[in-house]
Amino acid sequence: MTVVVLLGAPGAGKGTQAALLAEKLRIAHVATGDLFRAAVRDGSPIGLEARRFMERGQLVPDDITIRMLKDRLGKPDAADGAILDGFPRTSAQAAALDNALAERGDRVDQAVHIEVPDDELIRRMSGRWVCQAAGHVYNEPTNPPRVPGRCDIDGSSLIQREDDKPDTIRARLDLQLASLREVIDHYARTGILRSVDGLQSIDDVARDLHSAVTGERPPTDA
Ligand code: AP5
Ligand code: MG
Repeated sequence: MTVVVLLGAPGAGKGTQAALLAEKLRIAHVATGDLFRAAVRDGSPIGLEARRFMERGQLVPDDITIRMLKDRLGKPDAADGAILDGFPRTSAQAAALDNALAERGDRVDQAVHIEVPDDELIRRMSGRWVCQAAGHVYNEPTNPPRVPGRCDIDGSSLIQREDDKPDTIRARLDLQLASLREVIDHYARTGILRSVDGLQSIDDVARDLHSAVTGERPPTDA
């Protein structure tokens, strides 16, 4: 199986790029933030617990997050591999992922850091709209939908994320960047870390990310 970890601060473009790369590589896109938001919508016990942390901009505790991720990786659509978007976020999560993969003779193949400066992160999260049905991501003004207020892919209405309010954006950056650094160091130590310049256009980041992961340039019509 192929396992690619996408690293980046809140708002760096992980979800946008993971969706594109998962389609190109034909493997699952696994985003712990999306799984938590779905659990919150369903009112499940994980959702009720996760919500308390998400609304304060804090990370959800490792035990809940690791259990949820392992469960997701056991689903049939992840049998050939996954792009991990938003996991691991702590050293403990990174170690748990290494152990879980090692038990089945696998490992993380690539870890790519999408680098974006803080002021741009704030701008991107402030302008983000996501679709109600599946969380497809848009941005006013950098990545607008074709029809205002409607998802291009499934037609559902676009909403703002609860944690994209200005105070929560600030809290997420203040509370989460130190552990991102730990995870970056984890993959630097294992020698599989790459970086891409996330300040470029979405297409240019996608091109560089594809090269970082596969060592090839993507086809020009991709
Ligand atoms: P999560 O949903 O993972 O949020 P995040 O890491 O804060 O990242 P975002 O989804 O905000 O940003 P992104 O990098 O995906 O950027 P996007 O592609 O949307 O987590 C939410 C919460 O859940 C966490 O705060 C935590 O509480 C909890 N959680 C999740 N995972 C956890 C874990 N492992 N452990 C513990 N807790 C966890 O892009 C952003 C915007 O910019 C969009 O509007 C997009 O259209 C636009 N954009 C993207 N790329 C570009 C570009 N190149 N140029 C211009 N605009 C762009
Ligand atoms: Mg995301």
